Amino acid sequence: MDKILIHGGHPLSGSIKVSGSKNSSLPILAATLLTREPCVVYGVPDLSDTHYMLQILMHLGAQVERASGTVSVTAEKIQSVAPYDVVRRMRASVCVLGPLLGRCKEATVSLPGGCVIGDRPIDLHLQGFEALGAAVRVESGDIKVFAPKLTGAVINMHGKFGPTVLGTDNVMMAAVLADGVTVIEGAAQEPEVVDLATFLNKMGAKIEGAGTRRIIIEGVPALHGAEHRVIPDRIEAGTFLVAGAIAGKEVTVKRVNPEHVRAVTDALTRCGLAINVKDDAISILPNGHASALDLTTEPYPGFPTDMQAQMCALLSTSKGTSSVTENVFPQRYMHVAELKRMGAQVELEGATAVIDGVDCLLGAPVMASDLRASAALVLAGLKADGITEVSRVYHIDRGYEHLDEKLSELGAHIERVKAA
Ligand code: UD1
Repeated sequence: MDKILIHGGHPLSGSIKVSGSKNSSLPILAATLLTREPCVVYGVPDLSDTHYMLQILMHLGAQVERASGTVSVTAEKIQSVAPYDVVRRMRASVCVLGPLLGRCKEATVSLPGGCVIGDRPIDLHLQGFEALGAAVRVESGDIKVFAPKLTGAVINMHGKFGPTVLGTDNVMMAAVLADGVTVIEGAAQEPEVVDLATFLNKMGAKIEGAGTRRIIIEGVPALHGAEHRVIPDRIEAGTFLVAGAIAGKEVTVKRVNPEHVRAVTDALTRCGLAINVKDDAISILPNGHASALDLTTEPYPGFPTDMQAQMCALLSTSKGTSSVTENVFPQRYMHVAELKRMGAQVELEGATAVIDGVDCLLGAPVMASDLRASAALVLAGLKADGITEVSRVYHIDRGYEHLDEKLSELGAHIERVKAA
């Protein structure tokens, strides 16, 4: 398995361009299953997760071509069964359920395996399908959904930890081909949900209200092919802004929608960092140590859970005592033990991490446990004294396009050691 070595203490400066959004690309690629006609998606990042999604589409019978960030999919004839071997590598594979149900009126998709960021149920997705008239069974690790006919309904997607993003996507993708009107209450408002709705509307769907708590979908008999460019990845943008906050002189993140990262730039401003926004570029100008912060993760437009680990890395060396409360995935703290190996002072109290900022971290061998936790360890390594060796970097490759190369361009001393 590859490792990443970071020689800490080299200040970052310059600019990087943000890639297309992973979390937009995955459901949008799944949505291409809804039509027999060709679709073209631009800006799809080169990541193992997008690669897995294309493998799933090909398994289902779609013809796929990929040339750098442009992916063409023609799903003229498809079948509706995705077994464990095909879906096990990625939890987001569950988002083929909605389009398969919409188009084929049946689907069998194996339940993806466990996940270190906590229990990840899909009860709300399944309740949504049932409300549309589908019968749902979970049998031998497979989810089976079947509906001779889908009928519009009122569905609530708000669960114990807020609205579900992929649940909202899944129900939206099934409902576009249902008879009548579907109203999704308590819908996720994430920009990726809006991006998916925009793509579906280009395909001929009739969706209103995406980006608000109520989405209204008027079912249509069929969708057609469409072309679409996915939005920039707001989590990648946020990660580079935090990198700039941790180890930067001045770092500019280009090709970003400033509105999508507002919760992150607000948090960095509250830490005392100077942020400059100009069109689609955001610069961060650190002025010494950041200060402590009380932070709570929330569904969009709140502070994203996908940026929590990176902020913990920043707050580990900020002045004073910070508290970070994880409201979306309360167990998402695998990075804490690893940051502590680097000298961070963090105590967990339930879903809250209390962080006493230290002057400096020390490089150490650490292990990546999930995508964003891994990014946090790399960021911590940029500032740490000595060498930080991050193993299991396949987690990083799931969600960051060329993270090590982009950090190198900014002046980080970082190298990837290929597995023998
Ligand atoms: C998506 C993102 C992920 C992000 C998360 C929250 C993708 C591919 N992934 O994941 O990066 O961290 O949103 O912003 O877009 N829940 C239920 N029942 C359900 C579904 C979810 O209780 O049926 C709970 C989850 O356990 C969690 C919360 O709802 O506590 C939010 O999860 P959800 O929005 O569904 O996450 P994903 O869509 O899987």
